[in-house]
Amino acid sequence: MRIQRLKPARKEELLLGEVDLTLMEPLLEKYKDRKGNMIPLLQGTQEIYGYLPKAAFAKIHQATGLELNEMYGVATFYAQFRLVPAGKHIVKMCHGTACHVQNVTAITDEILDNLQIKDGETTEDGLFTVETVACLGCCSLAPVMMIGDETYGKLSPRQAVKIIREIRRSENN
Ligand code: FES
Repeated sequence: MRIQRLKPARKEELLLGEVDLTLMEPLLEKYKDRKGNMIPLLQGTQEIYGYLPKAAFAKIHQATGLELNEMYGVATFYAQFRLVPAGKHIVKMCHGTACHVQNVTAITDEILDNLQIKDGETTEDGLFTVETVACLGCCSLAPVMMIGDETYGKLSPRQAVKIIREIRRSENN
């Protein structure tokens, strides 16, 4: 089943925390009577909205009878789930061994300082979320950063910040 994904969530939705719950209907229809449906429902919901909106938990509960506290428990346990909207650009900073040795921490710190957020947070304008992740699989390019599908390697802190600034500039034009 192909699920329509909102990319990114509309700004007013981010601000008001409101989402169009009708987008979940095909997902609920597909999984509501299946055993072990909690994870696929949460994954599918995140696929639609980019995160797990509060209202979506209530909708799943209504449609399937799954308990809210169990769903929250699962959603907070697994790192794959987000409870808040991600930024339009997700910046993944590789903190695997090769990148760590090549001082990715300094690059990450520089980016976080520049964007005035902490690891895992999203900028106020909703443009960037920065996350530290494990090996991105291109260690020969260490230190590595990924933004969307684009991989940037052999970075210095200065280059990394420049890349972020360029994206912001093109978004503001
Ligand atoms: S350790 Fe960073 S890409 Fe492998």
